[in-house]
Amino acid sequence: MSKEQTSSPRETVTIIDNSTGKQVELPLYRGTEGPAVFDIGGMAKQLGIYTYDPGFRSTASCQSAISLIDGPAGRLLYRGYPIEQLAEHSSFLEVCYLLWYGSLPNQQELEKFTYSITHHTLLHEGLREFFQGFRYDAHPMAIMVGVVGALSAFYHDSLDIHNPKVRELSAHRLIAKLPTIAAWAYRYSKGEPFPYPRNELSYGENFLHMMFSYPTEPYKVNPVAAKAMDLLFLTHADHGQNASASTIRLAGSSQANPYACVSASVGTLWGPAHGGANEAVIRMLEEIGSPDRLDYFIARAKDRDDPFRLMGFGHRVYKNYDPRAKIIKKLCDEVLAAYETDDPLFTLAKQLEERVQQDEYFVKRGLYPNVDFYSGIILRTIGIPTNMFTVVFTIGRAIGWIAQWNEMITDNQTSIGRPRQLYTGPAQRDYIPLADR
Ligand code: CMC
Repeated sequence: MSKEQTSSPRETVTIIDNSTGKQVELPLYRGTEGPAVFDIGGMAKQLGIYTYDPGFRSTASCQSAISLIDGPAGRLLYRGYPIEQLAEHSSFLEVCYLLWYGSLPNQQELEKFTYSITHHTLLHEGLREFFQGFRYDAHPMAIMVGVVGALSAFYHDSLDIHNPKVRELSAHRLIAKLPTIAAWAYRYSKGEPFPYPRNELSYGENFLHMMFSYPTEPYKVNPVAAKAMDLLFLTHADHGQNASASTIRLAGSSQANPYACVSASVGTLWGPAHGGANEAVIRMLEEIGSPDRLDYFIARAKDRDDPFRLMGFGHRVYKNYDPRAKIIKKLCDEVLAAYETDDPLFTLAKQLEERVQQDEYFVKRGLYPNVDFYSGIILRTIGIPTNMFTVVFTIGRAIGWIAQWNEMITDNQTSIGRPRQLYTGPAQRDYIPLADR
């Protein structure tokens, strides 16, 4: 922990092992905001015991200056800037710059960065062949895991992870190439041609062009859709030490290459308790179908014996409204108005939210809509199919992962991630020969 982050005079926490009477005084650190932590590093050595914290509910796994989630207040900061201000004034690529380099770019820096991202969007032609190896009905997230991991085989220069220039180039490549991989995964599932990226288009426009254009006719990107994509990428860009960010730190702590590490995070994000929730929300709303079935599904969500949960509700850190959900709900209204359409699932989603907010079960547990609750409605309206929703999340989150990875590598406290366990298996016993069993 750096000196600035420790409080002065030195604060400590004392742990007493009541079974032996031994005690240890541990340093307490305070960050710039958020809860303090005490450093248990010396505890195992002095007391011979470890901590036990499944799901890391009470454990800070690292120090980080990238994003702050203030759960009780429902606040999210990227490098200190509130998400609402960035959503209103900034663009996704500006936010990528902010997350990677630590400060907002000036005009010249942003132009240079945008140029670099724009000129790294092409995939190696050899990588095109990888798509053909997947079954026609493969989930696009399965293709993402495979093709992103396969980038390692094309950029051998990126294996030198201790070189900051190499890490920067890998970051630019990943931000640039993910939309191409994602769109081609979709086009492959449709048996359609793979459109090449176009340098005159913005990041969001280019993704839509690769998703929906045909070589046979001109394609005009809808500016409302492009703006919405940019804002969705921006609101998903980073979110503290969530499961996929923790995955990249753990994978990267072994000094594996960045593409292999990002591929591991893509796999983690896919789960319905994490980024897969946006897809699950739409499937759930479709299953609910009409307002008269809300009671039934709310009752199921509250039943401890039923594994059903309301998808898009609840968060490990937010026990208040997820600020990203507020931004996305507003965007949802704007996109539906611009498309002059009325999605009955949006109406149903708002009715569900209203009911949940009046229900003591959800209020008591601080369960509010999260980032995934309304994003799918926007994506549906734009024409993005449901199985691509988590892929869109992946494109937005890639910058967060690689910024976390870069921060980990440059932190002199980093060592290979290697948790302990509470062993509950059999105590040592002797082998019994097969004939005697
Ligand atoms: N529906 C019904 N009950 C819920 C829900 C839900 N969506 N979420 C939490 N609860 C209940 C849970 O049963 C528990 O009740 P009790 O105290 O009686 O045991 C209590 O609320 C606390 O839940 P928890 O499981 O301890 O909370 P967690 O921090 O482990 O889980 C979560 C957080 C996001 C995995 C969970 O809220 C959930 O499964 N939500 C639905 C899936 C979802 O929307 N995921 C996207 C998360 S945001 C985007 C991202 O980070 O990827």
